[in-house]
Amino acid sequence: CRILVLISGSGTNLQAIIDACKSPDYPGQVVGVLSNKADAYGLERAANANIATTTLSHRDFATREAYDDALMAAIDKYQPDVVVLAGFMRILTPAFVQHYQGRLVNIHPSLLPKYQGLNTHQRAIDAGDDEHGVSVHFVTEELDGGPVILQAKVPVFENDTADELAARVHEQEHRIYPLVVKWLCQGRLKMVDEKAILDDTPL
Ligand code: GRF
Repeated sequence: CRILVLISGSGTNLQAIIDACKSPDYPGQVVGVLSNKADAYGLERAANANIATTTLSHRDFATREAYDDALMAAIDKYQPDVVVLAGFMRILTPAFVQHYQGRLVNIHPSLLPKYQGLNTHQRAIDAGDDEHGVSVHFVTEELDGGPVILQAKVPVFENDTADELAARVHEQEHRIYPLVVKWLCQGRLKMVDEKAILDDTPL
C-alpha cells in the first residue's frame, strides 16, 4: 500500500506514520511527502527516512483551482493508494476532494463536530470543556466535516494552557493516525454514502 503524506509544518504525525511503517507487519510504506512550504520541518523528517519529497508552493499559482490541479498531478506521480493530510494547512477544491474520495483522510485536533477550523485548543479551554481530543475523518467537500473514523479523548485540566492541552492531544494523534492509515491500507475501511465503514460495520 503506497501512502502519500501532505504537510505544511513540523510533521510529528508524519513521523508517527513513518515510525509505524518500520514495523514488519505494517501493511504500507510512505512513498512520498509533499509540502506547500519549503521550510516545513517534516521535509527533513522525510529526507532522514529516505523518502522522496516534493515542494509545491501555492504562491506560484494564481488561483486555488490552478494550485490544486498541479497538486493532484504532483501527488499522482507517486501513484498513492492512500493520501494523508497531516497538518496540511490548505483548503482543498471540490475537484481535488472528489479525485481522492474514499482514500483521503485528515486529522483534526478536536472532537468533531465540535470546533471545526483553527485554534481548537484555546476554544475548548474558553468554553470550559472538561474533555477535548482529536478526530481522524474522511475528507469531503465540507471543511472538517467529513465522516469521522476514529476519535481519542483527553481530559482538560484546570489552568491548562493551550500549549499544554495541544501536547496532550498530540500524543493521541500519534497513536490513532497510524492505526487509521493501517485500516485503509488493509482495505478494511471505506467511505460509502458519506459514511465511514470499518469491516462492513458503519462507524
Ligand atoms: C495537528 O495538530 C493536526 O491535528 C492538525 O495539524 C497539526 C499537525 O501537526 N491538523 P504535525 O505537523 O503533525 O506535528
